[in-house]
Amino acid sequence: MRIGCPKEIKPQEFRVGLTPHAAREAVSHGHEVIVEAGAGAGSGFPDADYLAAGARLVPTAEELFAAADLIVKVKEPQAVERRRLRAGQVLFTYLHLAPDPEQTRDLLESGVTAIAYETVTDGRGGLPLLAPMSEVAGKLAPQVGAWTLQKANGGRGVLLGGVPGVGPAKVAVIGGGVVGTHAARIAAGMGADVTVLDRSLPRLRALDEAFGGLFRTSYASAGNTAEQVAEADMVIGAVLIPGAAAPKLVSRAQLSSMKPGAAIVDVAIDQGGCFETSRPTTHQDPVYEVDGVMHYCVANMPGAVARTSTLALGNATMPFLLALADKGWKRACEDDPHLLAGLNTHAGHLTYYAVGRALEIDVLSPQLALKM
Ligand SMILES: NC(=O)c1ccc[n+]([C@@H]2O[C@H](COP(=O)([O-])OP(=O)(O)OC[C@H]3O[C@@H](n4cnc5c(N)ncnc54)[C@H](O)[C@@H]3O)[C@@H](O)[C@H]2O)c1
Repeated sequence: MRIGCPKEIKPQEFRVGLTPHAAREAVSHGHEVIVEAGAGAGSGFPDADYLAAGARLVPTAEELFAAADLIVKVKEPQAVERRRLRAGQVLFTYLHLAPDPEQTRDLLESGVTAIAYETVTDGRGGLPLLAPMSEVAGKLAPQVGAWTLQKANGGRGVLLGGVPGVGPAKVAVIGGGVVGTHAARIAAGMGADVTVLDRSLPRLRALDEAFGGLFRTSYASAGNTAEQVAEADMVIGAVLIPGAAAPKLVSRAQLSSMKPGAAIVDVAIDQGGCFETSRPTTHQDPVYEVDGVMHYCVANMPGAVARTSTLALGNATMPFLLALADKGWKRACEDDPHLLAGLNTHAGHLTYYAVGRALEIDVLSPQLALKM
């Protein structure tokens, strides 16, 4: 199969869909790999690394899209890229179609077979191609929060770990899933006094068993959440209700109960955020102040550490990519229902029910798409 990896063109996107190591594996499986010149530069992979892995470079995206049977990317295809897709071609990338009717329409019109990273599942009820980015964002959250707490950045001038004779900062993490667990581990590792709040008792039990002693857990009742938020130097928002907007757990009125210069890091901002006062920000201008509380609300946090994120995403996507290339998408999806869960469009049909419901488009069952 001819696997193509274009350069990402969405603004501020520095990740790349295929690492040189993944390219080497695909080549060793007998596939032809083509990479757009400069595609890996933002993640620190020069063209020479791809050439050394056995890939071929092409100078333009047009050429790449025209030649590839299977396209592997990071972000959803932009309008100019969507015009280059065609029936019979497989697209493997993040899509997030539910809030994006224009992209959905273009993908359906193109006839492309699109498999979305974010809906591929695993045997434990997880989303294995989303988890690496949640791990990155979670580990990054205390790091950017610590920076936000510095005086020059508008924060209260508190050092997370304290020093001998001066106590540590208090950190409240709301939501103890993938983001929350990684955030809590790092914040505790930096010496902060950390409490994780969640509404799921099984989740709190699992955290207590794994990390008891490193950080505290607390049931996320409205009362407990309000108390922790009022006492915290830093609050990290990490809740998720799958398929829904993030619940607003901290109101504007509650900000006045917070310490002046406290930091909010709302990781859940990509789902609307869990603070009433959150609005998306960018890496260029990440922090703003409301009622004396500093808000960090960058919607694509993993982009700040593009190299780590590319490597982490590549580790997770590689087995699926190889299956798609080795077997063709139909047999790969027949053999693996978790990969089939990623199928969002095929030959002009929408094949993912949640997107169909959100956009009021008829859905063809993915099992029927396999028989087409
Ligand atoms: N900003 C970014 O760059 C970025 C990157 C990765 C993930 N995210 C976002 O971070 C959020 C968390 O992702 P995740 O992978 O950790 O999800 P997850 O499903 O692993 O964890 C979410 C947790 O929130 C808990 N929860 C739900 N409702 C709650 C409530 N009312 N109070 C307290 N806890 C509640 C759940 O029980 C669960 O444990 C998502 O919105 C995700 O999209 C953002």
